[in-house]
Amino acid sequence: MVIVIDFGSQYTQLIVRKIRELGFRSEILPFNTPIEEIINKKPGAIILSGGPRSVTEKNAPTINPLIWTLGIPLLGICYGMQLISQQFGGKVASSPTKEYGSSLLVLNKYLHDESPLFKDVPSQDTVWMSHGDYISSLPSSFTAYASTESCPFAAMGNPEKRIYGVQFHPEVTHTHSGKKILHNFLSVVAGLKPDWSIKSYLEEITSSIKAFVGEGKVIVALSGGVDSTIMITLLSKTLPGQIYPIFIDHGLLRFQEADEVLQALAKLGIPVNLVNAQDRFFKALKKVKDGEKKRKIMGREFIMVLEAEAQKIPGVTHLAQGTIYPDVIESAVSVSGLAAKIKTHHNVGGLPKRLRLKLVEPLRYLFKDEVRELGKLLGLPLSIIERRPFPGPGLAVRMLGEVTMDRANKLRMVDEIFRDELKKWEGYKNIWQAFAVLTGVKTVGVKGDERSYEELVAIRAVSSTDGMTADWIEIPPAVLRKISERITREVAGVNRVVYDITTKPPSTIEWE
Ligand code: XMP
Repeated sequence: MVIVIDFGSQYTQLIVRKIRELGFRSEILPFNTPIEEIINKKPGAIILSGGPRSVTEKNAPTINPLIWTLGIPLLGICYGMQLISQQFGGKVASSPTKEYGSSLLVLNKYLHDESPLFKDVPSQDTVWMSHGDYISSLPSSFTAYASTESCPFAAMGNPEKRIYGVQFHPEVTHTHSGKKILHNFLSVVAGLKPDWSIKSYLEEITSSIKAFVGEGKVIVALSGGVDSTIMITLLSKTLPGQIYPIFIDHGLLRFQEADEVLQALAKLGIPVNLVNAQDRFFKALKKVKDGEKKRKIMGREFIMVLEAEAQKIPGVTHLAQGTIYPDVIESAVSVSGLAAKIKTHHNVGGLPKRLRLKLVEPLRYLFKDEVRELGKLLGLPLSIIERRPFPGPGLAVRMLGEVTMDRANKLRMVDEIFRDELKKWEGYKNIWQAFAVLTGVKTVGVKGDERSYEELVAIRAVSSTDGMTADWIEIPPAVLRKISERITREVAGVNRVVYDITTKPPSTIEWE
Protein backbone atom coordinates (compact mmCIF):
# COMPACT_ATOMS: atom_id res chain seq x y z
CA MET A 1 0.00 0.00 0.00
CA VAL A 2 1.24 3.42 -1.01
CA ILE A 3 -0.27 6.34 0.90
CA VAL A 4 -0.67 9.62 -0.93
CA ILE A 5 -1.03 12.54 1.45
CA ASP A 6 -3.22 15.20 -0.16
CA PHE A 7 -2.35 18.87 0.12
CA GLY A 8 -5.04 19.87 -2.37
CA SER A 9 -3.25 19.46 -5.69
CA GLN A 10 -5.34 19.17 -8.83
CA TYR A 11 -3.17 16.14 -9.57
CA THR A 12 -3.46 14.16 -6.33
CA GLN A 13 -5.72 11.52 -7.87
CA LEU A 14 -3.35 11.30 -10.81
CA ILE A 15 -0.58 10.23 -8.48
CA VAL A 16 -2.78 7.36 -7.32
CA ARG A 17 -3.66 6.61 -10.91
CA LYS A 18 -0.01 6.36 -11.94
CA ILE A 19 0.82 4.24 -8.92
CA ARG A 20 -1.97 1.83 -9.90
CA GLU A 21 -0.76 1.82 -13.48
CA LEU A 22 2.55 0.65 -12.11
CA GLY A 23 0.67 -2.16 -10.37
CA PHE A 24 0.62 -0.94 -6.75
CA ARG A 25 -2.34 -0.37 -4.45
CA SER A 26 -2.79 3.17 -3.31
CA GLU A 27 -4.96 5.31 -1.09
CA ILE A 28 -5.30 9.05 -0.50
CA LEU A 29 -5.42 10.53 2.99
CA PRO A 30 -5.87 14.21 3.85
CA PHE A 31 -2.78 16.00 5.20
CA ASN A 32 -4.31 16.31 8.66
CA THR A 33 -4.87 12.56 9.12
CA PRO A 34 -3.60 11.55 12.58
CA ILE A 35 -0.14 10.02 12.29
CA GLU A 36 -1.29 6.85 14.12
CA GLU A 37 -3.80 6.21 11.35
CA ILE A 38 -1.06 6.49 8.75
CA ILE A 39 1.18 4.13 10.70
CA ASN A 40 -1.68 1.62 11.14
CA LYS A 41 -2.02 1.33 7.37
CA LYS A 42 1.56 0.03 7.29
CA PRO A 43 2.44 1.92 4.10
CA GLY A 44 5.38 0.69 2.07
CA ALA A 45 5.90 4.23 0.80
CA ILE A 46 4.40 7.69 1.27
CA ILE A 47 3.97 10.44 -1.31
CA LEU A 48 3.23 14.05 -0.39
CA SER A 49 1.17 15.76 -3.09
CA GLY A 50 1.40 19.26 -4.48
CA GLY A 51 -1.07 21.93 -3.40
CA PRO A 52 -2.40 25.40 -4.14
CA ARG A 53 -1.03 27.03 -0.97
CA SER A 54 2.45 28.28 -0.12
CA VAL A 55 4.50 26.71 2.70
CA THR A 56 5.60 30.24 3.59
CA GLU A 57 2.03 31.32 4.42
CA LYS A 58 0.78 31.55 7.96
CA ASN A 59 -1.24 28.42 8.80
CA ALA A 60 -0.06 26.65 5.67
CA PRO A 61 -1.08 22.97 5.64
CA THR A 62 1.63 20.86 7.20
CA ILE A 63 2.17 17.40 8.59
CA ASN A 64 3.10 15.81 11.90
CA PRO A 65 6.96 15.88 11.97
CA LEU A 66 6.94 12.31 13.30
CA ILE A 67 6.46 11.31 9.68
CA TRP A 68 10.14 12.07 8.97
CA THR A 69 11.25 9.59 11.61
CA LEU A 70 9.21 6.53 10.59
CA GLY A 71 11.84 5.20 8.22
CA ILE A 72 9.18 4.85 5.48
CA PRO A 73 10.43 5.95 2.03
CA LEU A 74 8.96 9.35 1.23
CA LEU A 75 8.61 11.38 -1.95
CA GLY A 76 7.43 15.01 -1.91
CA ILE A 77 6.02 16.46 -5.12
CA CYS A 78 5.96 20.26 -5.65
CA TYR A 79 4.35 21.57 -2.42
CA GLY A 80 5.35 18.24 -0.84
CA MET A 81 8.99 18.84 -1.74
CA GLN A 82 8.87 22.41 -0.48
CA LEU A 83 7.41 21.20 2.80
CA ILE A 84 10.23 18.66 3.21
CA SER A 85 12.76 21.34 2.41
CA GLN A 86 11.28 23.78 4.93
CA GLN A 87 11.08 21.11 7.65
CA PHE A 88 14.73 20.13 7.15
CA GLY A 89 16.03 23.70 7.30
CA GLY A 90 15.95 24.76 3.64
CA LYS A 91 14.39 27.96 2.34
CA VAL A 92 11.32 28.38 0.15
CA ALA A 93 10.60 31.65 -1.64
CA SER A 94 8.24 33.06 -4.20
CA SER A 95 9.71 32.40 -7.63
CA PRO A 96 10.53 35.46 -9.77
CA THR A 97 9.59 33.46 -12.87
CA LYS A 98 6.59 31.23 -12.38
CA GLU A 99 6.80 27.95 -14.25
CA TYR A 100 3.67 26.51 -15.86
CA GLY A 101 3.76 23.78 -18.46
CA SER A 102 6.78 22.17 -20.00
CA SER A 103 10.39 22.75 -18.80
CA LEU A 104 13.70 21.09 -19.54
CA LEU A 105 15.05 19.16 -16.55
CA VAL A 106 18.83 18.88 -16.45
CA LEU A 107 20.25 16.25 -14.11
CA ASN A 108 23.41 17.09 -12.26
CA LYS A 109 25.71 14.85 -14.24
CA TYR A 110 28.06 13.58 -11.60
CA LEU A 111 25.14 12.44 -9.47
CA HIS A 112 23.19 10.93 -12.28
CA ASP A 113 24.13 7.32 -11.66
CA GLU A 114 24.14 7.65 -7.91
CA SER A 115 20.49 8.53 -7.39
CA PRO A 116 18.14 5.53 -7.57
CA LEU A 117 15.29 7.96 -8.26
CA PHE A 118 16.76 8.80 -11.66
CA LYS A 119 17.88 5.33 -12.67
CA ASP A 120 17.64 5.04 -16.50
CA VAL A 121 16.30 8.60 -16.85
CA PRO A 122 17.95 10.68 -19.62
CA SER A 123 20.24 13.41 -18.32
CA GLN A 124 18.05 16.03 -20.03
CA ASP A 125 14.32 15.50 -20.16
CA THR A 126 10.98 17.29 -20.50
CA VAL A 127 9.04 17.74 -17.26
CA TRP A 128 5.72 19.44 -16.42
CA MET A 129 5.81 22.27 -13.89
CA SER A 130 3.05 24.18 -12.15
CA HIS A 131 4.42 26.29 -9.29
CA GLY A 132 4.81 29.82 -7.98
CA ASP A 133 7.23 29.04 -5.10
CA TYR A 134 10.62 27.41 -5.36
CA ILE A 135 13.39 26.18 -3.06
CA SER A 136 15.94 28.97 -2.86
CA SER A 137 18.23 27.20 -0.41
CA LEU A 138 18.56 23.43 -0.04
CA PRO A 139 18.55 21.78 3.42
CA SER A 140 22.14 20.77 4.24
CA SER A 141 21.34 17.06 4.64
CA PHE A 142 19.95 16.89 1.07
CA THR A 143 21.66 16.59 -2.31
CA ALA A 144 20.47 18.48 -5.38
CA TYR A 145 19.87 16.13 -8.31
CA ALA A 146 18.50 18.38 -11.02
CA SER A 147 17.56 21.88 -12.11
CA THR A 148 15.55 23.70 -14.76
CA GLU A 149 16.24 27.14 -16.20
CA SER A 150 14.23 28.92 -13.53
CA CYS A 151 14.42 26.36 -10.72
CA PRO A 152 17.86 25.65 -9.24
CA PHE A 153 16.63 22.70 -7.13
CA ALA A 154 14.17 20.72 -9.21
CA ALA A 155 14.94 17.42 -7.47
CA MET A 156 16.62 16.55 -4.18
CA GLY A 157 17.14 13.60 -1.92
CA ASN A 158 18.55 12.16 1.26
CA PRO A 159 19.29 8.53 0.32
CA GLU A 160 20.09 7.53 3.89
CA LYS A 161 16.66 8.58 5.13
CA ARG A 162 15.10 7.55 1.80
CA ILE A 163 13.39 10.95 1.56
CA TYR A 164 13.19 12.57 -1.88
CA GLY A 165 11.56 15.58 -3.47
CA VAL A 166 10.78 16.73 -6.99
CA GLN A 167 9.55 20.19 -7.95
CA PHE A 168 8.01 18.95 -11.22
CA HIS A 169 5.01 16.62 -11.53
CA PRO A 170 6.06 13.04 -12.33
CA GLU A 171 2.39 11.98 -12.21
CA VAL A 172 1.36 13.87 -15.37
CA THR A 173 1.88 12.21 -18.72
CA HIS A 174 3.67 15.23 -20.16
CA THR A 175 6.62 14.60 -17.84
CA HIS A 176 8.38 12.18 -20.17
CA SER A 177 10.12 10.04 -17.57
CA GLY A 178 7.52 10.66 -14.83
CA LYS A 179 6.33 7.08 -14.70
CA LYS A 180 9.90 5.81 -14.66
CA ILE A 181 10.71 8.11 -11.74
CA LEU A 182 7.67 6.92 -9.76
CA HIS A 183 8.58 3.34 -10.61
CA ASN A 184 12.11 3.98 -9.36
CA PHE A 185 10.78 5.44 -6.14
CA LEU A 186 8.39 2.54 -5.47
CA SER A 187 10.46 -0.38 -6.74
CA VAL A 188 14.07 0.68 -6.35
CA VAL A 189 13.96 3.05 -3.35
CA ALA A 190 11.05 1.44 -1.45
CA GLY A 191 11.50 -2.12 -2.79
CA LEU A 192 7.75 -2.74 -3.27
CA LYS A 193 6.26 -5.53 -5.43
CA PRO A 194 3.28 -4.80 -7.76
CA ASP A 195 -0.15 -6.53 -7.29
CA TRP A 196 -2.94 -4.22 -8.67
CA SER A 197 -4.49 -4.39 -12.15
CA ILE A 198 -7.62 -3.27 -13.99
CA LYS A 199 -8.66 -6.93 -13.95
CA SER A 200 -8.55 -7.04 -10.17
CA TYR A 201 -10.51 -3.74 -10.13
CA LEU A 202 -13.19 -5.26 -12.38
CA GLU A 203 -13.55 -8.25 -10.07
CA GLU A 204 -13.77 -6.03 -6.98
CA ILE A 205 -16.26 -3.56 -8.50
CA THR A 206 -18.47 -6.32 -9.91
CA SER A 207 -18.97 -7.98 -6.56
CA SER A 208 -19.43 -4.67 -4.74
CA ILE A 209 -22.09 -3.50 -7.27
CA LYS A 210 -23.95 -6.80 -6.87
CA ALA A 211 -23.88 -6.48 -3.10
CA PHE A 212 -24.89 -2.79 -3.18
CA VAL A 213 -27.82 -3.18 -5.61
CA GLY A 214 -29.06 -6.59 -4.50
CA GLU A 215 -32.46 -7.23 -6.08
CA GLY A 216 -32.96 -3.51 -6.83
CA LYS A 217 -33.74 -1.79 -10.12
CA VAL A 218 -31.30 0.73 -11.60
CA ILE A 219 -32.13 3.67 -13.84
CA VAL A 220 -29.00 4.37 -15.88
CA ALA A 221 -28.29 7.87 -17.17
CA LEU A 222 -26.32 7.77 -20.41
CA SER A 223 -24.53 10.66 -22.06
CA GLY A 224 -23.42 8.57 -25.00
CA GLY A 225 -19.73 9.15 -24.41
CA VAL A 226 -17.07 6.50 -23.84
CA ASP A 227 -17.60 6.45 -20.08
CA SER A 228 -21.32 5.91 -20.08
CA THR A 229 -21.11 3.26 -22.82
CA ILE A 230 -18.53 1.30 -20.88
CA MET A 231 -20.51 1.75 -17.67
CA ILE A 232 -23.73 0.44 -19.23
CA THR A 233 -21.90 -2.55 -20.67
CA LEU A 234 -20.48 -3.35 -17.24
CA LEU A 235 -23.88 -2.97 -15.60
CA SER A 236 -25.72 -5.01 -18.23
CA LYS A 237 -23.30 -7.87 -17.55
CA THR A 238 -23.36 -7.46 -13.78
CA LEU A 239 -27.10 -6.83 -13.27
CA PRO A 240 -28.93 -8.45 -16.20
CA GLY A 241 -32.66 -7.68 -16.17
CA GLN A 242 -32.26 -4.99 -13.49
CA ILE A 243 -31.23 -1.96 -15.56
CA TYR A 244 -33.29 0.78 -17.28
CA PRO A 245 -31.00 2.89 -19.50
CA ILE A 246 -32.15 6.34 -20.63
CA PHE A 247 -30.48 8.86 -22.90
CA ILE A 248 -31.43 12.51 -22.49
CA ASP A 249 -31.27 14.59 -25.65
CA HIS A 250 -30.86 18.13 -24.32
CA GLY A 251 -30.44 19.70 -27.74
CA LEU A 252 -26.80 20.52 -27.08
CA LEU A 253 -25.36 17.37 -28.56
CA ARG A 254 -23.13 17.20 -31.61
CA PHE A 255 -24.28 16.59 -35.17
CA GLN A 256 -26.39 13.38 -35.35
CA GLU A 257 -25.04 12.31 -31.98
CA ALA A 258 -28.25 10.90 -30.46
CA ASP A 259 -28.80 8.58 -33.45
CA GLU A 260 -25.21 7.36 -33.40
CA VAL A 261 -25.32 6.58 -29.69
CA LEU A 262 -28.56 4.68 -29.84
CA GLN A 263 -27.40 2.67 -32.84
CA ALA A 264 -24.08 1.75 -31.20
CA LEU A 265 -25.85 0.56 -28.05
CA ALA A 266 -28.50 -1.32 -30.02
CA LYS A 267 -25.65 -3.18 -31.72
CA LEU A 268 -24.42 -4.22 -28.27
CA GLY A 269 -27.91 -5.54 -27.52
CA ILE A 270 -28.71 -2.71 -25.09
CA PRO A 271 -32.03 -0.99 -25.82
CA VAL A 272 -32.16 2.60 -24.60
CA ASN A 273 -35.07 4.91 -23.92
CA LEU A 274 -34.49 8.26 -25.72
CA VAL A 275 -35.93 11.23 -23.85
CA ASN A 276 -36.31 14.42 -25.85
CA ALA A 277 -35.86 17.24 -23.35
CA GLN A 278 -34.57 19.91 -25.72
CA ASP A 279 -37.23 22.51 -24.95
CA ARG A 280 -36.82 22.45 -21.20
CA PHE A 281 -33.02 22.75 -21.40
CA PHE A 282 -33.14 25.75 -23.76
CA LYS A 283 -35.80 27.35 -21.60
CA ALA A 284 -33.74 26.86 -18.44
CA LEU A 285 -30.61 28.25 -20.12
CA LYS A 286 -32.34 31.28 -21.64
CA LYS A 287 -30.32 34.49 -21.20
CA VAL A 288 -27.72 32.73 -19.00
CA LYS A 289 -24.24 33.79 -20.03
CA ASP A 290 -22.02 32.65 -17.18
CA GLY A 291 -20.24 29.31 -17.77
CA GLU A 292 -20.51 28.13 -14.17
CA LYS A 293 -24.24 28.95 -14.09
CA LYS A 294 -24.75 27.04 -17.33
CA ARG A 295 -22.99 24.01 -15.85
CA LYS A 296 -25.15 24.13 -12.74
CA ILE A 297 -28.36 24.52 -14.74
CA MET A 298 -27.43 21.61 -17.00
CA GLY A 299 -26.75 19.46 -13.92
CA ARG A 300 -30.02 20.50 -12.28
CA GLU A 301 -32.11 19.88 -15.39
CA PHE A 302 -30.47 16.48 -15.89
CA ILE A 303 -31.55 15.50 -12.39
CA MET A 304 -35.06 16.80 -12.92
CA VAL A 305 -35.51 14.85 -16.15
CA LEU A 306 -34.05 11.79 -14.46
CA GLU A 307 -36.43 12.23 -11.56
CA ALA A 308 -39.42 12.36 -13.91
CA GLU A 309 -38.18 9.28 -15.76
CA ALA A 310 -37.45 7.39 -12.55
CA GLN A 311 -41.06 7.87 -11.48
CA LYS A 312 -42.12 5.89 -14.52
CA ILE A 313 -40.20 2.81 -13.32
CA PRO A 314 -42.06 1.13 -10.44
CA GLY A 315 -39.78 -0.02 -7.66
CA VAL A 316 -36.64 1.73 -8.94
CA THR A 317 -34.01 1.86 -6.20
CA HIS A 318 -30.74 3.09 -7.73
CA LEU A 319 -29.40 5.58 -10.24
CA ALA A 320 -26.21 4.81 -12.15
CA GLN A 321 -24.06 7.37 -13.91
CA GLY A 322 -20.66 7.35 -15.57
CA THR A 323 -18.85 9.87 -13.37
CA ILE A 324 -15.10 9.45 -13.64
CA TYR A 325 -12.26 10.72 -11.44
CA PRO A 326 -11.36 13.92 -13.33
CA ASP A 327 -15.01 15.10 -13.02
CA VAL A 328 -14.74 14.63 -9.28
CA ILE A 329 -11.32 16.21 -8.89
CA GLU A 330 -11.92 19.32 -10.92
CA SER A 331 -15.12 19.97 -9.05
CA ALA A 332 -12.85 20.08 -5.97
CA VAL A 333 -14.41 17.21 -4.09
CA SER A 334 -10.88 16.53 -2.95
CA VAL A 335 -9.93 14.44 0.01
CA SER A 336 -8.32 17.31 1.90
CA GLY A 337 -10.95 19.85 0.86
CA LEU A 338 -8.04 22.12 -0.13
CA ALA A 339 -8.12 21.79 -3.90
CA ALA A 340 -9.21 24.90 -5.76
CA LYS A 341 -12.45 24.56 -7.68
CA ILE A 342 -11.81 24.84 -11.41
CA LYS A 343 -15.26 24.19 -12.77
CA THR A 344 -18.45 22.49 -11.71
CA HIS A 345 -18.75 19.26 -13.57
CA HIS A 346 -22.31 18.51 -14.41
CA ASN A 347 -22.71 15.22 -12.65
CA VAL A 348 -20.92 15.43 -9.34
CA GLY A 349 -23.26 17.51 -7.25
CA GLY A 350 -24.89 14.48 -5.67
CA LEU A 351 -28.57 13.71 -5.77
CA PRO A 352 -31.35 15.64 -4.09
CA LYS A 353 -32.58 13.75 -1.03
CA ARG A 354 -36.17 13.67 -2.28
CA LEU A 355 -35.05 11.36 -5.10
CA ARG A 356 -34.49 8.52 -2.64
CA LEU A 357 -32.26 6.73 -5.10
CA LYS A 358 -28.89 5.32 -4.20
CA LEU A 359 -26.08 6.34 -6.49
CA VAL A 360 -24.07 3.74 -8.42
CA GLU A 361 -20.88 5.11 -9.98
CA PRO A 362 -18.70 2.19 -11.04
CA LEU A 363 -16.12 4.42 -12.74
CA ARG A 364 -15.83 7.09 -10.04
CA TYR A 365 -12.27 6.11 -9.17
CA LEU A 366 -11.00 5.58 -12.69
CA PHE A 367 -9.31 7.85 -15.17
CA LYS A 368 -10.23 7.98 -18.82
CA ASP A 369 -7.44 5.70 -19.98
CA GLU A 370 -8.29 3.19 -17.24
CA VAL A 371 -11.94 3.33 -18.29
CA ARG A 372 -10.83 2.53 -21.83
CA GLU A 373 -8.76 -0.38 -20.57
CA LEU A 374 -11.83 -1.64 -18.71
CA GLY A 375 -13.78 -1.34 -21.98
CA LYS A 376 -11.25 -3.60 -23.69
CA LEU A 377 -11.51 -6.10 -20.87
CA LEU A 378 -15.30 -6.10 -21.31
CA GLY A 379 -14.82 -6.90 -25.00
CA LEU A 380 -16.09 -3.62 -26.48
CA PRO A 381 -15.05 -2.76 -30.07
CA LEU A 382 -12.30 -0.18 -30.60
CA SER A 383 -14.76 2.11 -32.43
CA ILE A 384 -16.46 2.69 -29.07
CA ILE A 385 -13.42 2.60 -26.83
CA GLU A 386 -11.56 5.18 -28.91
CA ARG A 387 -14.40 7.70 -29.22
CA ARG A 388 -13.26 11.21 -28.35
CA PRO A 389 -14.59 12.56 -25.04
CA PHE A 390 -17.53 14.98 -24.94
CA PRO A 391 -18.50 16.95 -21.82
CA GLY A 392 -21.81 16.29 -20.08
CA PRO A 393 -22.98 19.93 -20.38
CA GLY A 394 -22.39 19.57 -24.11
CA LEU A 395 -22.35 22.52 -26.46
CA ALA A 396 -23.68 24.81 -23.71
CA VAL A 397 -20.11 25.26 -22.46
CA ARG A 398 -18.73 25.70 -25.97
CA MET A 399 -20.68 28.83 -26.81
CA LEU A 400 -19.57 31.80 -24.77
CA GLY A 401 -22.59 33.96 -24.04
CA GLU A 402 -26.19 33.00 -24.56
CA VAL A 403 -27.34 29.49 -25.38
CA THR A 404 -29.95 29.45 -28.14
CA MET A 405 -31.12 26.83 -30.61
CA ASP A 406 -29.77 28.97 -33.51
CA ARG A 407 -26.34 29.21 -31.95
CA ALA A 408 -26.36 25.50 -31.17
CA ASN A 409 -27.13 24.75 -34.82
CA LYS A 410 -24.35 27.08 -35.96
CA LEU A 411 -21.85 25.52 -33.60
CA ARG A 412 -22.90 22.00 -34.61
CA MET A 413 -22.08 22.85 -38.24
CA VAL A 414 -18.71 24.42 -37.45
CA ASP A 415 -17.80 21.53 -35.17
CA GLU A 416 -18.82 18.92 -37.72
CA ILE A 417 -16.74 20.53 -40.51
CA PHE A 418 -13.72 20.78 -38.22
CA ARG A 419 -13.88 17.16 -37.09
CA ASP A 420 -14.73 15.94 -40.60
CA GLU A 421 -11.58 17.54 -42.03
CA LEU A 422 -9.46 16.29 -39.12
CA LYS A 423 -10.61 12.72 -39.69
CA LYS A 424 -9.18 12.89 -43.21
CA TRP A 425 -5.75 13.76 -41.79
CA GLU A 426 -3.43 10.93 -40.77
CA GLY A 427 -2.57 12.72 -37.51
CA TYR A 428 -6.18 12.33 -36.29
CA LYS A 429 -5.25 9.22 -34.35
CA ASN A 430 -3.07 11.32 -32.04
CA ILE A 431 -5.88 13.73 -31.21
CA TRP A 432 -7.50 13.13 -27.85
CA GLN A 433 -10.23 15.70 -28.26
CA ALA A 434 -11.17 18.25 -30.94
CA PHE A 435 -14.00 20.74 -30.99
CA ALA A 436 -15.11 24.22 -31.97
CA VAL A 437 -16.16 27.13 -29.78
CA LEU A 438 -18.48 30.05 -30.53
CA THR A 439 -16.64 32.94 -28.91
CA GLY A 440 -19.49 35.45 -28.89
CA VAL A 441 -17.05 38.01 -30.34
CA LYS A 442 -17.90 39.72 -33.60
CA THR A 443 -15.23 40.88 -36.02
CA VAL A 444 -15.23 42.81 -39.28
CA GLY A 445 -14.78 40.91 -42.51
CA VAL A 446 -15.39 41.26 -46.21
CA LYS A 447 -17.58 38.77 -48.03
CA GLY A 448 -18.44 39.29 -51.74
CA ASP A 449 -17.34 42.94 -51.67
CA GLU A 450 -19.63 43.60 -48.71
CA ARG A 451 -18.63 44.44 -45.18
CA SER A 452 -19.49 41.65 -42.77
CA TYR A 453 -19.68 41.82 -39.00
CA GLU A 454 -19.89 38.23 -37.87
CA GLU A 455 -18.88 35.78 -35.17
CA LEU A 456 -15.35 34.61 -34.50
CA VAL A 457 -15.05 30.86 -33.94
CA ALA A 458 -12.17 29.09 -32.26
CA ILE A 459 -11.06 25.54 -32.90
CA ARG A 460 -9.13 23.39 -30.44
CA ALA A 461 -7.45 20.00 -30.81
CA VAL A 462 -5.39 18.50 -28.01
CA SER A 463 -3.38 15.45 -27.08
CA SER A 464 -3.85 13.99 -23.61
CA THR A 465 -4.29 10.64 -21.92
CA ASP A 466 -6.45 11.53 -18.99
CA GLY A 467 -7.77 15.05 -19.54
CA MET A 468 -5.75 16.35 -16.59
CA THR A 469 -3.03 17.86 -18.74
CA ALA A 470 -3.12 18.53 -22.44
CA ASP A 471 -1.01 19.83 -25.27
CA TRP A 472 -2.28 21.43 -28.47
CA ILE A 473 -1.84 19.53 -31.71
CA GLU A 474 0.37 20.85 -34.49
CA ILE A 475 -2.13 20.56 -37.33
CA PRO A 476 -0.45 21.09 -40.73
CA PRO A 477 -1.16 24.53 -42.27
CA ALA A 478 -2.83 22.97 -45.35
CA VAL A 479 -5.35 21.17 -43.11
CA LEU A 480 -6.00 24.34 -41.10
CA ARG A 481 -6.48 26.29 -44.33
CA LYS A 482 -9.07 23.82 -45.61
CA ILE A 483 -10.92 23.90 -42.28
CA SER A 484 -11.02 27.69 -42.20
CA GLU A 485 -12.14 27.92 -45.85
CA ARG A 486 -14.95 25.44 -45.34
CA ILE A 487 -16.20 26.97 -42.09
CA THR A 488 -16.33 30.54 -43.42
CA ARG A 489 -17.94 29.40 -46.68
CA GLU A 490 -20.42 26.88 -45.37
CA VAL A 491 -21.58 28.39 -42.08
CA ALA A 492 -23.59 31.59 -42.21
CA GLY A 493 -22.66 34.19 -39.64
CA VAL A 494 -18.98 33.20 -39.26
CA ASN A 495 -16.23 35.25 -40.89
CA ARG A 496 -13.12 34.37 -38.88
CA VAL A 497 -11.48 31.24 -37.43
CA VAL A 498 -8.67 31.08 -34.86
CA TYR A 499 -6.76 28.05 -33.58
CA ASP A 500 -6.25 27.66 -29.81
CA ILE A 501 -2.55 27.09 -29.06
CA THR A 502 -2.64 26.80 -25.26
CA THR A 503 -1.63 23.86 -23.12
CA LYS A 504 -3.45 22.67 -19.98
CA PRO A 505 -2.32 24.11 -17.59
CA PRO A 506 -2.62 27.09 -17.73
CA SER A 507 -5.82 26.66 -19.77
CA THR A 508 -8.40 23.95 -19.35
CA ILE A 509 -9.47 21.88 -22.35
CA GLU A 510 -12.98 23.32 -22.57
CA TRP A 511 -13.39 27.09 -22.67
CA GLU A 512 -16.04 27.25 -19.95
P1 XMP B 1 -11.35 20.55 -18.78
O1 XMP B 1 -12.11 21.56 -19.59
O2 XMP B 1 -11.76 20.55 -17.35
O3 XMP B 1 -11.80 19.14 -19.36
O4 XMP B 1 -9.86 20.63 -18.99
C1 XMP B 1 -11.18 17.91 -19.09
C2 XMP B 1 -12.00 16.85 -19.80
O5 XMP B 1 -13.29 16.72 -19.17
C3 XMP B 1 -14.34 17.04 -20.08
N1 XMP B 1 -15.34 17.80 -19.32
C4 XMP B 1 -16.44 17.24 -18.80
N2 XMP B 1 -16.90 15.99 -18.86
N3 XMP B 1 -18.76 16.64 -17.56
C5 XMP B 1 -18.09 15.70 -18.27
O6 XMP B 1 -18.55 14.56 -18.37
C6 XMP B 1 -18.36 17.93 -17.44
O7 XMP B 1 -18.99 18.76 -16.82
C7 XMP B 1 -17.13 18.23 -18.11
N4 XMP B 1 -16.42 19.39 -18.23
C8 XMP B 1 -15.31 19.09 -18.97
C9 XMP B 1 -13.68 17.85 -21.18
O8 XMP B 1 -14.41 17.75 -22.39
C10 XMP B 1 -12.31 17.19 -21.25
O9 XMP B 1 -12.35 15.99 -21.96
